Amino acid sequence: MATSVVGLDIGSTGVRGVELSAKGKNKPMLLRSYEIPLPPGAVMRGEIVHPEIVGSALKRLWSQGGFKSKNVVLGTGNQGVIVRDLTVPKMSLKHIRESLPFQVQTTLQMQLTDSLLDFYPTSESVGEQGPMINGLLIAAEKKEVLGNVNVVERAGLTPVEVDLIPFALNRLLISGPQIGGTVALIDIGGTTTSIIISSNGVPWFVRIIPTGGDDLTQALIEGLEIGASAAEELKRTLKLGSAEMDEDSKTVKCKCAKCVSEDPAAENFRSTEILHSISGELLGSLRNTVNYFNNTRPQDPVQRILLTGGGSLLSGISETLAEITHIPVSAADPFAMVSLPNQKTNKRLHVDGSIAVALGLALRSSL
Ligand SMILES: Nc1ncnc2c1ncn2[C@@H]1O[C@H](COP(=O)(O)OP(=O)(O)OP(=O)(O)O)[C@@H](O)[C@H]1O
Ligand SMILES: [Mg+2]
Repeated sequence: MATSVVGLDIGSTGVRGVELSAKGKNKPMLLRSYEIPLPPGAVMRGEIVHPEIVGSALKRLWSQGGFKSKNVVLGTGNQGVIVRDLTVPKMSLKHIRESLPFQVQTTLQMQLTDSLLDFYPTSESVGEQGPMINGLLIAAEKKEVLGNVNVVERAGLTPVEVDLIPFALNRLLISGPQIGGTVALIDIGGTTTSIIISSNGVPWFVRIIPTGGDDLTQALIEGLEIGASAAEELKRTLKLGSAEMDEDSKTVKCKCAKCVSEDPAAENFRSTEILHSISGELLGSLRNTVNYFNNTRPQDPVQRILLTGGGSLLSGISETLAEITHIPVSAADPFAMVSLPNQKTNKRLHVDGSIAVALGLALRSSL
């Protein structure tokens, strides 16, 4: 019997694990899923900043989540990850992987001595030199990946694989109604945003942006001089797209912290201004990314955008993204690939969109 593995997502707002039943004829079943929140700053932009805090959260994740396996598939993804198209002569994946340092130097002319390299095959073709394999080269910073592996090992767990978070997300779409055509899957987290664009489930493009929902919280904290929990609460009441401010707020002249704190209309004006400025930057990057992809592959333009991640819960964000890209945007269904047990009998099961990445990582061993 194959040993089960746990998909492990170390996100900026929490650590999450997902354990699935072994692969069978039917969809794998979600056996266990759990999350332990992390304090702000312990993990930032895909990197573990405070290993001791994350280590103790991982121990609690296992003791409270009741996972049966200590083998984990660990997610990785920060702005240092490079993903490029690469075509190599046809050979086994093992040989391709061995030849990657050479391929990177000769074909891509890149110096990546401090990187871990991997290859994700996507299609085959016949070139001048014979049969070729097309795919994506992935280069991740060795220091970051090994650092994360270390933290996980010190928590008593065994990382059996490390996978790129955007690939884990793509796995959630590999079958089912979400797969058809060219789809951009965007995960807006707390401090990172991952984008993967796939055609019929085959990934073509990956980008990781070091921005997320926490940037808006931080800007509200600084701009309105309020505490972190007040900013988080306020953020959840704001609505993007409501640019038209009422008459009262238009008459507000002074936006200094003192006037803002004394005048609700001024605070409303200021928070709306911060909302539009910070979210505008992120949405602008997303639009530019989709436009870049569409310009490089005009035969396969993005037909749909699917959103995951806590940052995508910001009110009005999907409507605004649809408006500026002219592409339909909806929430991805992370559970299309698994069957769910009776949640009433399993109180430890954490079933909401926040486990999407951990679920995609766990699926790596179930497909
Ligand atoms: N209802 C909501 N409205 C607006 N923002 C929300 C809402 N719920 C959660 N968020 C935001 O979602 C973000 C966290 O998302 P998520 O849990 O996907 O991040 P993470 O996986 O922990 O972080 P990362 O992927 O960046 O490492 C936070 O910025 C949080 O404020
Ligand atoms: Mg995340």
